[in-house]
Amino acid sequence: MTDPFDLHGHTVVVAGGAGLIGTALSRGLADQGATVVVADAAPDRGEAVAADVDGRFVETDVTDESSVEALLATVVEEFGSLDGVVNCSYPRNESYGARYEDVTYADWRENVDLHLNSYFLLAHRASLLMREQGHGSIVSFGSTYGVQAPDFSVYEGTEMTSPVEYAAIKGGVLNLTRYMASYLGRDGVRVNAISPGGVFDEQHPTFVAEYERRTPLDRMADPEDFVGPVAFLLSDGAGYVTGHNLRVDGGWTIC
Ligand SMILES: NC(=O)c1ccc[n+]([C@@H]2O[C@H](COP(=O)([O-])OP(=O)(O)OC[C@H]3O[C@@H](n4cnc5c(N)ncnc54)[C@H](O)[C@@H]3O)[C@@H](O)[C@H]2O)c1
Repeated sequence: MTDPFDLHGHTVVVAGGAGLIGTALSRGLADQGATVVVADAAPDRGEAVAADVDGRFVETDVTDESSVEALLATVVEEFGSLDGVVNCSYPRNESYGARYEDVTYADWRENVDLHLNSYFLLAHRASLLMREQGHGSIVSFGSTYGVQAPDFSVYEGTEMTSPVEYAAIKGGVLNLTRYMASYLGRDGVRVNAISPGGVFDEQHPTFVAEYERRTPLDRMADPEDFVGPVAFLLSDGAGYVTGHNLRVDGGWTIC
C-alpha cells in the first residue's frame, strides 16, 4: 500500500518559508518528499533554506499582486503543477506589537492589510490555478488568538502583549478558510488552517513560565511541531478534510 502522507510528486509553495516556523516547514516537507518552493521577502535567509532543502527560492512580496502572480507563474513553468500552498508569512509594520492604547488607526489598517489581505491574495490566486488543474491543497496559518481572546495574565511582568490587530487578522484568516473550502470543494481544491500556540523564541522567562503553566502539554511549541500537521493537510491522506482548523497548541484552547 502506498503511504497516504507521502509528498513525493507534490510541489509546495511555503510563503514565509524562511521564517521561524517556515524554515522548519520547508525542511520537514522536503523530508516528506515534497519539492519545496520557498517564497519569502528575505533573500539571504530564503536562498539558504532553499539550498538546504534542495528546493527553489523565489523572492516574493506576498502583499504585492504582481509579485504573487510571478511566483505562481514560475512554479507552474518550472515544475508543471502547483499542488500545495502554505500561507506562513508574517508581514507587519514597525509599530506592530504596540500596546492597545497606542495603536493608531493608520497602523491598524496597515497591519490588517499587510497580513490578512496578503493571505487572501496568495490563497485566492493559487486556488484559481488549482481549480484549473482540478486539485490542490491550501493551508493558512491562523492562531489560537483567532479562535479565542488572549489571556493577558500571561504577559504580566513583561513588556509583551498580543496586538489587537492579530485578533481581527487571525479570526479573518479562519473564516476566509471556511468560505474558500465551501466554494472550492467541488473543484477538488481543499482549504484548511493551522492554529498554532505560542512558539518558544527566547521570550521573557516570566512569560514562558506562565505560558507553560497554562498549557496542558506543559511547554511552548517548537517550530517542528507544525511539520506533521501541515504535511498531513497537504497530503492525499487528508483527501476528505477541508475547511478544518487544526489547533496545534498543546491543548491551550481546550482550557
Ligand atoms: N511564532 C509564533 O509563536 C506563532 C504563533 C501563532 C501563529 N503564528 C503564525 O505563524 C506564521 C509564521 O510566524 P513566524 O513566527 O514563523 O514568523 P517569522 O516572522 O519568524 O517569519 C515570517 C516570515 O515571513 C517573511 N515575510 C514577512 N513579510 C513578507 C512579505 N511581505 N512577503 C513575503 N515574505 C514576508 C519574513 O521574511 C519571514 O521569513 C504567522 O502567520 C504567525 O501569525 C506564529
